[in-house]
Amino acid sequence: MGMLVNLRDWIDARFPLTKMWEEHLSKYYAPKNFNFWYFFGSLALLVLVIQIVSGIFLTMNFKPSADDAFASVEYIMRDVNWGWLIRYIHSTGASAFFIVVYLHMFRGLLYGSYKGPRELIWIFGMMIYLALMAEAFFGYLLPWGQMSYWGAQVIISLFGAIPVIGDDLSLWIRGDYVISDITLNRFFALHVIAVPLVLIALVVVHILALHEVGSNNPDGVEIKKNKDENGIPLDGIPFHPYYSVKDIVGVVVFLMFFSVVVFFVPEGGGYFLEKPNFEPANSLKTPAHIAPVWYFTPYYAMLRAVTIDIGPLTAKFLGVIVMGAAVVILFFLPWLDKSPVKSIRYRGPIYKTMLTLFVVAFFMLGWLGTQAPTDTKTMMAQIGTVVYFAFFLGMPFYTRIDKTKPVPDRVTG
Ligand code: HEM
Repeated sequence: MGMLVNLRDWIDARFPLTKMWEEHLSKYYAPKNFNFWYFFGSLALLVLVIQIVSGIFLTMNFKPSADDAFASVEYIMRDVNWGWLIRYIHSTGASAFFIVVYLHMFRGLLYGSYKGPRELIWIFGMMIYLALMAEAFFGYLLPWGQMSYWGAQVIISLFGAIPVIGDDLSLWIRGDYVISDITLNRFFALHVIAVPLVLIALVVVHILALHEVGSNNPDGVEIKKNKDENGIPLDGIPFHPYYSVKDIVGVVVFLMFFSVVVFFVPEGGGYFLEKPNFEPANSLKTPAHIAPVWYFTPYYAMLRAVTIDIGPLTAKFLGVIVMGAAVVILFFLPWLDKSPVKSIRYRGPIYKTMLTLFVVAFFMLGWLGTQAPTDTKTMMAQIGTVVYFAFFLGMPFYTRIDKTKPVPDRVTG
């Protein structure tokens, strides 16, 4: 023990180890009323680590070339020791990442976590979300299956719809006139190093911003407003050991669900690993039905919901704009929400109704995005798109007139 203390002191004289430990863990005070919804930040961190570690082992055996990629994935599945496990962990992890992040973001909507002074936490979060979408998109091309190939084909062709620069832009992204070995090679570089580095950096600043202002909580009460004589928030408890231990409970429960998928339903009913991707990419054979992976389908449905040309602007281009706007608008949430209260607990009936409609629309769009379009389904997608945007664009108005309840001074438990 004495030797360990000496080692710690030796390090502390040269590096702020104890200082950082205290600032971010043992003397970082978090609200004592965290609930279920507060597990997902630490779970997102866990999934990030799972993806990086399993990704490193996949990279050791994967061959990023159009001739070898598909076969190297089969080789990983059949010949590499534990290769099937490494791959299933990584493919399940991709979907798990989005499930966890969507729940994490929804918590923000429930408790107004994006509102001042936490706007930057939200902005960094949105940048993480964008990086995550890019990461998933690049990764999906790598196994070089039919859906990898044609999915990328559809998405890159969307850039082609942009007036004037579109064709040059999509050529530049592909690095070739069609999706080819060149595209695969650059997507590999982006997927294994460029985007992960950006993601890690963004997660660091996300948490630094969080620790600067402190967490929000299910009551939306600022715990820093009520401190004891030592300057410690009365409703705060040290992150370590209280939440470090509590988060481990979340980790264990999460890993139970995760393991069930990895070991018993790794294809996730065709949603986590899609059927056409068990066939090698074939540039001469377009699959009957091309749809992105489930986590992109709400946006895909909004893209297809736009069916009319306006003047020189094609429906495809307008769809791209709508789809882009659906993501970009989330960045502005802190400034669209004019409610005097943060938490859903003290919000009025209008916000509760709008949030419910928004969730229903998001799920409906997600389902529609997996389906081949029909007239009825296109109309449903149009209604869903209107509801989606109404939630955000109406917010400056309905949050002002909504009847809120008084917020207590202290957290309620
Ligand atoms: C790799 C992805 C992410 C990681 C590792 C991550 C990590 C974390 C962690 C550890 C916390 C504190 C624990 C908690 O409140 O659950 C947190 C809080 C927060 N995150 Fe994230 N996050 C990620 C993505 C996002 C995204 C995509 C958004 C929103 C667009 C977001 C918005 C927030 C907000 C607003 C808070 C503060 C919540 C509050 O105090 O009520 N995060 N994040």
